[in-house]
Amino acid sequence: MTTSNQELSTQPAAAPASSGPAAGRHASSVNARRDGRLEKIAAGEFVPAEIHDSLRSEQAVLEIEKFNLWYGAKQALFDIQMIIPRGKVTALIGPSGCGKSTLLRCVNRMNDLIDSVRVAGQMRLNGDSIFASGVDVIELRKRMGMVFQKPNPFPMSIFENVVYPLRIDGERNRNVLEEVCERSLRGAALWNEVKDRLQESGLSLSGGQQQRLCIARAIASDPEVLLLDEPCSALDPLATGKIEDLIQELRGEYSILIVTHNMQQASRVSDYTAFMYLGHLVEYGDTPELFTNPRLKETEDYLTGRFG
Ligand SMILES: Nc1ncnc2c1ncn2[C@@H]1O[C@H](COP(=O)(O)OP(=O)(O)OP(=O)(O)O)[C@@H](O)[C@H]1O
Ligand SMILES: [Mg+2]
Repeated sequence: MTTSNQELSTQPAAAPASSGPAAGRHASSVNARRDGRLEKIAAGEFVPAEIHDSLRSEQAVLEIEKFNLWYGAKQALFDIQMIIPRGKVTALIGPSGCGKSTLLRCVNRMNDLIDSVRVAGQMRLNGDSIFASGVDVIELRKRMGMVFQKPNPFPMSIFENVVYPLRIDGERNRNVLEEVCERSLRGAALWNEVKDRLQESGLSLSGGQQQRLCIARAIASDPEVLLLDEPCSALDPLATGKIEDLIQELRGEYSILIVTHNMQQASRVSDYTAFMYLGHLVEYGDTPELFTNPRLKETEDYLTGRFG
């Protein structure tokens, strides 16, 4: 598909939220080359992403193929081509407005709710097309869990919050519900804090506890992929640390795609990191390599907070 006649966003790039400490961890790469691709992208050129070889050995839970998205006349995603590895944590990073949330929301077709949105290209979840005509979007969404920036427990008990996905599927067996509730709350590292107050409102929990409750709800139906959009941005450092520990515990059992503005967080919790810019995928590789030996100077500049 052609993208050349689409209006390009030219908003300036913002520096990453916590660039300083990440810079300390970051050895300046001798191999990174500068090819002016961010300028080319801003000028409307398409430049294929730098994809590290490490991704070739991975199995895909999600395949994204030549994926484009427009909000009305404005194109927000350009020929995104990548796989999200199964059983791993993948971080999406990039300046504000580069399309991270847009890409994440496409996976569970939340952008369907916006009238002006048009897409082209493919996404597949474990081989099944996400955008083919005739896909049952409700069934599709049951196969994934999504957690947002702001914790959003429902105004119901802790217990009912967790088992909500089973309830809407018609599950009534109390033993099943109790078993899933405990397993999910343990999985979300919240069980010990709430096991004696399961009938209290989910809204009575602290912000960090509420976010872990939302993660418990997201894993209650054994999702094939877990989508996290800046899940710690409304939390204090202690609660953030708990969520990061949790993400590491969930690794392996779940495939996780997480958007973060926090470079330290990306380097701590993820196996792979994808750097996006103005709707383009720029560089994608395994996190330690990307942080210590990026192929592109542009990636290094972003990781070290040197552009913005
Ligand atoms: N509902 C919408 N209608 C029109 N344009 C939108 C809509 N949502 C996002 N956009 C535009 O699409 C582009 C990508 O936005 P998106 O929210 O995906 O970025 P992001 O990388 O998640 O940014 P942030 O880090 O600030 O959350 C931006 O230019 C944004 O203005
Ligand atoms: Mg966003």
